[in-house]
Amino acid sequence: MNISEAVPLLLTFAVICLSFIMSFELLWKSRNLPPGPTPLPLLGNLLQISNGDLVKSLLKLSEKYGEVFTFYFGSRPYIMVTGYKSVKEVLVDRGDDFLARGDVPAFDVYYKNFGVAFTNNIERWRELRRFTLSTLRDFGMGKKSMEEHIQEEAQCLVAELKKTKESFFDPKVCLCKPPCNIIFTIMFGNRHDYMDEELLIVMSWIHETFFIMSSIWGKIYDMFPGIMNFMPGRHQETFRYMKKLMLYVEKRVEMNKKTLDLNNPRDYVDAFLIKMEKEKMNPKTEFHLTNLVTSTLQIFFAGVETISTTITYSLLLLLKYPDILAKVHKEIDQVIGRDRTPKVQDRHQMPFTEAVIHEVQRFIELLPLGVPRKTTRDIMYRGYSIPKHTNVFTVLSSVLKDPTCFPYPNEFNPKNFLDKNGEFQKNDAFMPLASGKRICVGEALVRMELFLFLVNILQNFNLKSAVPPEELDITPEVSGFGNIRKPYKISFVPR
Ligand code: HEM
Repeated sequence: MNISEAVPLLLTFAVICLSFIMSFELLWKSRNLPPGPTPLPLLGNLLQISNGDLVKSLLKLSEKYGEVFTFYFGSRPYIMVTGYKSVKEVLVDRGDDFLARGDVPAFDVYYKNFGVAFTNNIERWRELRRFTLSTLRDFGMGKKSMEEHIQEEAQCLVAELKKTKESFFDPKVCLCKPPCNIIFTIMFGNRHDYMDEELLIVMSWIHETFFIMSSIWGKIYDMFPGIMNFMPGRHQETFRYMKKLMLYVEKRVEMNKKTLDLNNPRDYVDAFLIKMEKEKMNPKTEFHLTNLVTSTLQIFFAGVETISTTITYSLLLLLKYPDILAKVHKEIDQVIGRDRTPKVQDRHQMPFTEAVIHEVQRFIELLPLGVPRKTTRDIMYRGYSIPKHTNVFTVLSSVLKDPTCFPYPNEFNPKNFLDKNGEFQKNDAFMPLASGKRICVGEALVRMELFLFLVNILQNFNLKSAVPPEELDITPEVSGFGNIRKPYKISFVPR
């Protein structure tokens, strides 16, 4: 046999051996994990995803295998946890066992286990989280001073919308600018004019990355990161945007450094630089440049696209349900009127509006799978032994639509948050920001921004759709890491 005949034979033999080893590895790994569909070597449970819809497929699988089951992304097992009771158990009751961040390969390539949101090093996370929460509070998160910033930004947004002169347009870009400016102010101490090139370009990098990661490209990359690194496709674009975003943050950190006053921090970056200075003699400190740049970018990312997508989705839902829009308008007129600036305190007199804002977040399930976690040690869970560092998805979608918790789980219906007297009613299964010790850092900011931006818009404008409400499609365009709405056109008619 000559060499050219031997090569294909050797290759076939190598593939068979590899498949065998991987099957063995899969079986070995899944010794006593929760049940689930049988994975294929290399492919894992790829074939169990029907019509490319990961979330729906997972919910279907939970009907067969129970609330907790195992699903393979390529050769990595993920424990899928569904339903309010099980998710609460994982995030809250046994939170410490599931506190580490899970793999998000598209981000991990850049963050390399640094930064507050994506590190799985618990000690690092603890230090950075404590610092981040107290610094965000110092710069006004959840307080009056932040409320004033958001009110000013909302006024700028209203002025911008007035300039559109009732024309029909997709509100995506317009509604991304205010939350982006709020994060700019907190992190770098300044806002940008709405026509500013820098604001527009940074927004577009964040938006494109979030969109591609939520599309089929993101899913395939997460399953086969090793191979996909070398394959062409839209996932390659996210690498370019992430690189640009990292460089941008590094540039902004350098700018802060040049004008830093150690006694007078102006923003998050300044506060971090001061902490670095204080800890410079500590060789084990977590306050170094890498954690500064990655944490800043992660907070930036988390705080822009989430709020703007929620606001654009809210307006789409209000166009679809004009009777609900009319009730919100009525409540705004009764409680605030048309002349006074809305304030956060008004929420307490506006149960219907408050219910609508909650219902939007519940219904759109912005991050349907949550953000993955990992076990922090070998644990026994429901009779299964789950090794340390196993990935876990708490499927938030299954909590937000849990029929045992909400009377109208699959409808957009504010009654999900109203009692029989029309008063706002809290619900423990309302977990769009997850729950427990690693709950979204921006919780207080989300509450303020959504209320003030939406109420300011609706105080000033009637919403008009370019097509009849029946023709508006409220299902997401892509559903994966995030749920992103389909494009639509809206006109803002001054009231
Ligand atoms: C509607 C808007 C938002 C939604 C739906 C949302 C949702 C989430 C979710 C589900 C997590 C994962 C928590 C977990 O590990 O289980 C998270 C984490 C995080 N969010 Fe948000 N978020 C929003 C807005 C924001 C804002 C405005 C900020 C900016 C301050 C922010 C900053 C973060 C950070 C830094 C983390 C990581 C927390 C950690 O790992 O300790 N988020 N968010």
